[in-house]
Amino acid sequence: MWNLLSILLILSMLRATNSLTALVTGSTDGIGKHTSRRLLQSGYKVLIHGRSQSRVDATISELQRYGEVESFTHDISTVSGCLALTSAVKSSHESLDLLINNAGVFCDTYSLSSCGLETTFAVNVLAPFTITRELLPLLQKTKNSRIINVSSISQNDGPRTISPSTVLNSVFQNRETWNKYATYGISKRLIAMYSLNLSKKFDSPTVMSCDPGTVNTKMLLEGWGPCGIDIKDANNEYDLATKELGEDDHGQYFFGQRVHPDVESVENQEELISLLEELSTKY
Ligand SMILES: NC(=O)c1ccc[n+]([C@@H]2O[C@H](COP(=O)([O-])OP(=O)(O)OC[C@H]3O[C@@H](n4cnc5c(N)ncnc54)[C@H](OP(=O)(O)O)[C@@H]3O)[C@@H](O)[C@H]2O)c1
Repeated sequence: MWNLLSILLILSMLRATNSLTALVTGSTDGIGKHTSRRLLQSGYKVLIHGRSQSRVDATISELQRYGEVESFTHDISTVSGCLALTSAVKSSHESLDLLINNAGVFCDTYSLSSCGLETTFAVNVLAPFTITRELLPLLQKTKNSRIINVSSISQNDGPRTISPSTVLNSVFQNRETWNKYATYGISKRLIAMYSLNLSKKFDSPTVMSCDPGTVNTKMLLEGWGPCGIDIKDANNEYDLATKELGEDDHGQYFFGQRVHPDVESVENQEELISLLEELSTKY
């Protein structure tokens, strides 16, 4: 009798866990793919996202043995690509338990996305802002939902003090002075700044940002060389997604070096949000 009860209890717990749904952007490679696999193994349904149909298909084939997956192929380097992604998610899901804004790029050379914005800024800053704004109503429908914005210890690279209202032209869009490390670093500072500001706007979902660790992914290899840990050990995003939430977690930056001092400036945060609002309607 006890055995039967235990089995029923375990089955109902599994069903409850299975009902959790996560969107991990940029889950066709590196840390996003590893995090997706771990989420699937812990019972999440995972919405796999990438920019290339063949890479999304390959990821689905690889990960479907671990749990329920769904595929989304949208290039998020344009606002219209972000909106196509979020409307596809909204059309098949009424709620969402977890959003990990993981997709990111390190550009070796200056490039503009097809909408005319510098690519690092478009993918690392404007995309997570747009995707989060659009999916917030779905995240607000579930209890204990969370948003994880992936920043980096590189947020400490680049000029010490920046004003978000001038940074677009002075750092990102200016081909003459463009520098790959400063550009990437500042994009990661801005996403941490956005994350902190977002957490002040509501109590739920819980908003956290993190350094995912220094990990030997294609991004690290191309930009810095093999100075990180193996992808199979890159568990920071997964740990944040599944940790028991504490009272102080909302708005926190986790792991690695402390957040850059500029991130804390309320003035900077408000300037950044105005800029992103404007750009998301203009591009
Ligand atoms: N690796 C590190 O040491 C490290 C350290 C600090 C922070 N991070 C951050 O961690 C996150 C994951 O990085 P990673 O190292 O795992 O990089 P990665 O291996 O290069 O993976 C990046 C993922 O984002 C996707 N992606 C890039 N641009 C996209 C676009 N325009 N539209 C849709 N998807 C796009 C990629 O798609 P494809 O498969 O088509 O390329 C891939 O799935 C990034 O935000 C990165 O900045 C990484």
